[in-house]
Amino acid sequence: MENERYLTFALGKGRLAKQTLETFEKIGITCEEMKDPKTRKLIFVNEELKLRFFLAKGPDVPTYVEYGAADIGIVGADTIMEEGRNIYEVLDLGFGKCRMCVCGPKESKELLEHQQLIRVATKYPKIAKQYFYNQKHQTVEIIKLNGSIELAPIVGLSEVIVDIVETGSTLRENGLEVLEEVCPLSARMVVNQVSMKMEYDRITKLIADLKGALDILE
Ligand code: PRP
Repeated sequence: MENERYLTFALGKGRLAKQTLETFEKIGITCEEMKDPKTRKLIFVNEELKLRFFLAKGPDVPTYVEYGAADIGIVGADTIMEEGRNIYEVLDLGFGKCRMCVCGPKESKELLEHQQLIRVATKYPKIAKQYFYNQKHQTVEIIKLNGSIELAPIVGLSEVIVDIVETGSTLRENGLEVLEEVCPLSARMVVNQVSMKMEYDRITKLIADLKGALDILE
């Protein structure tokens, strides 16, 4: 234990962070400081276990992990796909389940079926491009937005959107619906490629402990 270096975790801020910390608690990894909602601290240390944690914007998590500034990251599958970083995805944590979907008003369904040249607004241009160009072989115009994507078809910026659907209430409350499903999503654990080799024992034990706590079968 004495000579161990700190393992650093980058956690995506927001929806997944709470569930991630709860899951870590189940396997005896705690970080009380981090739970204080008033704190302005950015990095938290568990001296005893030689662990460090920090919260980052979701899309930055794979960046920290690729460069080795974090050994391990917990982030949504959507972000991993969109960022396309050189990192190992080692575990599907099974929580934060939602779907990446093509959504819009129901009239747009016909445009999709007839392979019309439509506009697609999204926070995920890479995923949208992969889906329409490589999977559906449909030429579309992709418009990058940074949030509140559901607005786009309502105000006439685009015919459809590619976005995350969790409960479906944002769509329902705005008169939109799921038109096509792109892929299922959930929280994933990612690891820096060098850390995986250098800290193999600690990281594989962590993965095994998490699998046990989450009832994930081999
Ligand atoms: C996400 C997503 C949808 C919504 C889906 O947005 O972009 O808007 O959640 O959830 P629901 O199906 O349960 O309604 P988020 O809250 O992350 O904010 P954003 O609009 O800034 O992307």
